[in-house]
Amino acid sequence: MNEFIPWAEKYRPKSTKEVVGQNLAVEKALDFVKNFRKEKTKALLLYGPPGNGKTSIVQAIANELNYELIEMNTSDFRTADSIKEKIGHAVTQQSLLFKKGKLILIDEIDGIYGNADRGGLPAIYKVLEESNYPIILTANDPWKSSLKTLRQKCALVQMKRVDIRSEVNKLDEIAKKEGIEVEEDVIHEIARLSQGDLRAAINDLQTICQGRKVVRKEDLKEIEARIKEVQIFDTLLAIFKSKDKKIIFDAFNNSDKSPDEILLWLVENIPKEYEKPGEIAEAFNYLSRADVFKGRIIHNQAWGLQSFVNELMCLGVAFAKREKYHKFTRYSPPGILVKMGRSKFARASRDKVAEKIGKVCHCSKKRAVEQFPYFSIILKKRKLEIELEKEEVEYLKKYT
Ligand SMILES: Nc1ncnc2c1ncn2[C@@H]1O[C@H](COP(=O)(O)OP(=O)(O)OP(=O)(O)O)[C@@H](O)[C@H]1O
Ligand SMILES: [Mg+2]
Repeated sequence: MNEFIPWAEKYRPKSTKEVVGQNLAVEKALDFVKNFRKEKTKALLLYGPPGNGKTSIVQAIANELNYELIEMNTSDFRTADSIKEKIGHAVTQQSLLFKKGKLILIDEIDGIYGNADRGGLPAIYKVLEESNYPIILTANDPWKSSLKTLRQKCALVQMKRVDIRSEVNKLDEIAKKEGIEVEEDVIHEIARLSQGDLRAAINDLQTICQGRKVVRKEDLKEIEARIKEVQIFDTLLAIFKSKDKKIIFDAFNNSDKSPDEILLWLVENIPKEYEKPGEIAEAFNYLSRADVFKGRIIHNQAWGLQSFVNELMCLGVAFAKREKYHKFTRYSPPGILVKMGRSKFARASRDKVAEKIGKVCHCSKKRAVEQFPYFSIILKKRKLEIELEKEEVEYLKKYT
């Protein structure tokens, strides 16, 4: 059976021609690598929002020029030692493989924040100085104050969100290669919703195509969850980036999320958006006061106090910042909701498989679940005469 491969990986560009909507960045990066000997700067920093092709461009260039690619990302930046170990030699010695040259990729450099004090950044500066080979760094947000020195050592290239036309073309091409007929409206809608994040768009396309040969507009419901996410991002943006009461409350009142959920989203993302400890402390102080009112509402059924919760939460957090941060922050869903979502997903797949097995074996879903370990063993040896989707077979195989 075919392993499940995310399409975003399967269709990762192998050459720069396959990178869409980033002509200028491709040109600059290629130029930088090819003319490295003549360049004054040793490093190029590609920056921009997630999923727009930063990492892909570097990989495609190495592939295309037949260069050895040395890749590092944030997890390697723990200490100065681990950096030296991994690329210290690589940047000075010649490639041992039969390659024409070397290209160093230091990926997601903004993630180094927090480890910086342990020597990660200075070690990178050293690598930049010593390197005999071109280095390309990537970041979502290069404007962090901690990256100031690094910025000065690099040539900066901004990469915008992928434009909708290019996204549509790519999605169309992938659907065709997969042999799935997807209505034009659907492709457009997926591209629109992704807001220039091509990785997200490809993931959505794969989700919606699963188990289908033809995809119609009705099927878009499947990615509604993401549509909702887009809405919560608007609410967070209003609270984090503005101090205008009207803008903030419009975004808050129009959200499909409950005030409790918005509070969780704020808790998760305040430390990502605000950088000054005083601001973070103040924002959380207001949230804790909002929480006191929430307690009173529940205790005394005093629903009239809800507006205090809303005001403390929205305006408290919004006014905790001194000035708006001109940066892109990748907001993430509250950890607790993600965990709950995962178990919900697991329950849903368990129920589906149980229902199918129950039907064939003439037993209840509950009995069917009890038999899962046996089916798991059988499946590892041979196919079952039950119509199961690929993922369901995988699910059963892993069941112990
Ligand atoms: N401009 C693009 N052209 C073609 N494919 C792209 C492009 N941008 C993203 N993709 C698709 O999305 C996937 C992820 O892209 P990539 O890893 O380059 O994103 P990134 O910009 O490095 O994101 P992050 O900021 O999260 O690291 C790729 O494997 C590819 O399938
Ligand atoms: Mg990347």
